[in-house]
Amino acid sequence: NWHNDVIIYTENDALTADSISTAPSYYLHVQNFTVECKVNIGKLLLVELEAKSPSFMTFIDDDWFCSKITVTTPQGACMLFPCHSWMSCEKKLILRDSVGLVKTCNNTMYCQASDSFMCYVFTFYRWSIFSPGLPHVVLAESPNELPPEVRFSFTKEKELLFTKEYVQKNWRKDEFFGYQFLNGLNPMIIKRCSKLPEKFPVTNEMVRGFLPDTSTLESEMAKGNIFICDYERLRDLEGNEINKKKQYLAAPLCLLFSSQGKLMPIAIQLNQQPGRGNPIFLPSDSETDWLLAKIFVRNAEFCEHELNFHLLRTHLIGEVFTVATMRNLPSCHPLFKLLLPHTRYTLQINVMARNRLISVDGYFAKFTAIGNESMTILMKRAASSLTYSSLCLPDDIKERGLEKIPNYYYRDDGLELWNIMYKFVFGFVSHYYSDQDIQEDKELHAWLTEMRENTLLDNSEAGFPESFYTVKELAKFVTMMIFSVSAQHAAVNNGQFDFGGWMPNFPSSLRCPPPSRKGSTTKDSLLATLPDIRTTVHALAVGYMLSQGSSDRYPLGHYPEELFSEEVPLKLIAQFKNDLQDLEKKIDARNKKLDLPYTYLNPRNVENSVAI
Ligand SMILES: *[C@@H]1O[C@H](CO)[C@@H](O)[C@H](O)[C@H]1NC(C)=O
Ligand SMILES: [Fe+2]
Repeated sequence: NWHNDVIIYTENDALTADSISTAPSYYLHVQNFTVECKVNIGKLLLVELEAKSPSFMTFIDDDWFCSKITVTTPQGACMLFPCHSWMSCEKKLILRDSVGLVKTCNNTMYCQASDSFMCYVFTFYRWSIFSPGLPHVVLAESPNELPPEVRFSFTKEKELLFTKEYVQKNWRKDEFFGYQFLNGLNPMIIKRCSKLPEKFPVTNEMVRGFLPDTSTLESEMAKGNIFICDYERLRDLEGNEINKKKQYLAAPLCLLFSSQGKLMPIAIQLNQQPGRGNPIFLPSDSETDWLLAKIFVRNAEFCEHELNFHLLRTHLIGEVFTVATMRNLPSCHPLFKLLLPHTRYTLQINVMARNRLISVDGYFAKFTAIGNESMTILMKRAASSLTYSSLCLPDDIKERGLEKIPNYYYRDDGLELWNIMYKFVFGFVSHYYSDQDIQEDKELHAWLTEMRENTLLDNSEAGFPESFYTVKELAKFVTMMIFSVSAQHAAVNNGQFDFGGWMPNFPSSLRCPPPSRKGSTTKDSLLATLPDIRTTVHALAVGYMLSQGSSDRYPLGHYPEELFSEEVPLKLIAQFKNDLQDLEKKIDARNKKLDLPYTYLNPRNVENSVAI
C-alpha cells in the first residue's frame, strides 16, 4: 500500500511519474506505466525511487521490496535498473542502469545527476571508531540504523546439519590435535620451523623418542618436517573473572613433527618466558600432564581463532571493504556490481557482533577467559601485525612455509578456489580496464585509499597497495577481497560447532593457572580446570548459532541480483560457476577417501559474503 514516486533522469531533464501505487507486499507485482514527454530528452542516466506511505498508514512499519525497474525508451531500447532493495517510508533510492561503464561514471553530467546519490551514501555510510587501534566500522548502534539495502531481508532460518561425534571420540589423540592445525577451525597459525626460537629451548634429548632414531631436530628441520605454533600475541594477558572467580590464559608454543602423512605434537611450553616454572611438556609425560598442556593450547586457539582469524581478519576487514565500496563506487561501476553480492549482510552481522559478542557485557566479557580488556589488547596486537600478503592465500602459504606438508586440505582447496576466483576477476577487470584506465580512474584510487586508511594498514610494513598500476594488481586485490569474505570466512566460521561443540576440544575459559611443574595434574584437577557448566552452555549456544547456514544464503558464484546485462560479464559468471562445480566434484571424490572429510571449502558450502 505504498505510493511511490519514480523520477527518471536523463541527459537534459528529469521526468516524474508520481503516485505509482503498489499492491500489498505479499504479492509479486509488476506495474507498467507510461511517462509522457514532448521532446527527445536524451540518454537515460538514473532512476530515482521514493517510497511514500499514505498518511493514514504511517504507523504501520511495512517495508516495500523493489527488485528492478525496466525502462523502454520511445526508440524501443530496454534498459535495466537493478534495485533488489527494501525501501522504508520516505527513503529515496537512486538506481543506475546495469551496463557498467567506467567512463560514464566519470562523466560530469552523470556526476551532477548523482549528487543526491552521493549525499545519500555519505549520510548513511559513515565511518566510526569502535576501539582505537582496530579497523574502523560503520556508524550504527543497532541494525535498525543501517540503510535498508544492507539489512537482513528475511528471517534467517536455522537448519541443523552437523556431526561432532568424531571430535568427541578423537579429541584426546595427538594425531587429531595435530590434524586440527591443518584442517580444523584455524588452519592459519601453524608455520614451518627452520630454527627453534630461543624462547622455546626444546632439546634433542627431550624429543628423542618422537623422531626417527637416526635423526635430530636439526636434521628434521633441514628436511622441512618440523612445524611450530606460537601464541605470542597472548603474552602477559590478564585472565577474566567469571562469577567472581579468576580465569586463566596461557601463551603457548607448540612444536610438531610431520611424518608419513601425520602431524604429531612433540613439545608444548605454556608461556613465552622459558625457565623454571614453565616446563616443556612432552608426549612421554603423564597422560593428565600432557592432556592438560594440550587443553591450554586449545584455549589459546579459541582466543586467536575467534578474535583474530575469524572476527578481525574476515568480519572487520570485510566491513571496511563494504563501507568503502558503498561510499566510493557508484552503483554503475563494474567493480561495485561485482562486489555487491560479497557485501551482503556483513554490516548487520557486525553491528550485532559488536552489541552481543564483543561489547563490554557481551559473550566474550561474560563467558571467556580472555574477557573484555584482554580481548581488546589481543585484537589490537593482531591488527597491528596484519599484512596484505597474509590476506593473499598463495603468498600466505609461501610465507608460512606450508607448500609441501601433506594432507593440508585447507591449502589444497583454498588455492584451487583462489585460482578460480582470480581467473574470473581477471577476466572481468580486463574487460573494462586497460592498465592505463586503471591509473586514471580517480574513484578507484579514492576507494583504495579509504580501505588503506580504515583497515589501519596505511603503514609501509603492512604492504597494502598504495596505488594500482596494472590489471593484474587490481585483479589480485579484488580476488583477495572476495576470497577473504567468502572462502576464508567459511573456513574459519562454519566448523565452529563441529570442533567446538565438544567443549574440552575448544574451551572458552579455564579455571586454574597453567601448571608450573610436571606431575601435579590429576584427573580431578583437570576437571576443575575446565569451565563450569554455565560458561560451557553459553559458549556452545553461541558456537552452535554461528555455525548454522541459513536458508537465505547465497552460495559462492550466485549473483541473484540482475546486476549485469552485458554478454561478457554474463559469460564470465557462467564460466565461474562451471569451474566451481568442477571443484565440487573433485573435493567430493577426495573426501570419499577420508575418515574426516574436509568440507569447509567445498564451493557449495561457501557463502558469497560474511553473513553469519
Ligand atoms: C572494557 O575494555 C575497555 C578497553 O580495554 C575499557 O576501556 C573498559 O573500561 C572495559 N569495560 C569494563 C566494563 O570492564
Ligand atoms: Fe562469522
